[in-house]
Amino acid sequence: MKIALFASGTGSNALKIIEHFRTVPSVSFVVLSNKEDAPVLPKVQALNIPTLTFNRKDFYENGKVKAFLADQSVDFIVLAGFLWLMPTDIVQEYPNKIINIHPALLPKFGGKGMYGMKVHEAVKQAQETTTGITIHYVNEKYDEGEVILQATCAVAPTDTPAMIAQKVQALEHEHFPKVVAKLISK
Ligand code: GAR
Repeated sequence: MKIALFASGTGSNALKIIEHFRTVPSVSFVVLSNKEDAPVLPKVQALNIPTLTFNRKDFYENGKVKAFLADQSVDFIVLAGFLWLMPTDIVQEYPNKIINIHPALLPKFGGKGMYGMKVHEAVKQAQETTTGITIHYVNEKYDEGEVILQATCAVAPTDTPAMIAQKVQALEHEHFPKVVAKLISK
């Protein structure tokens, strides 16, 4: 079982997933990023995990990313802090085998441009009393695929966006590796 992790940020979720399968030799990883300087890259390279960085052309036009996934015999794709829309050809190649994590309770606070701290700032602004995470299948639209799991946490009136981010990240780290494990065992 080969899992492709798409990550463009610090990669804390990608690393939690890799760590979860450390003692499972049948599961291996490749990591893809659209940012050459993504902090996640040196961290996974230190674990001898192959990486690919790519640009918009590679993703949407010349098939470089799709070819890499095929060359590496990737079975399952996990978006862990990745913000570009998945191209139709990749979505069709991996039906129900691409999942994403979103740091809010979709359909609230989702869609293009809603990521990271922007989400938590919007949650604060809307005076929500609850927020959480959504793990969902990926289709050709932002944040609209079928929901696999949602988990919630309380938002206190005194919580800052940074405090909300911490609570949500704890939920992500707790649930995301387990959901991946469950889905790939099917
Ligand atoms: C996570 O909070 C994830 O939910 C979010 O990016 C963060 C990546 O953190 N994804 C989105 O906002 C997608 N719209 P990480 O790099 O530490 O795993």
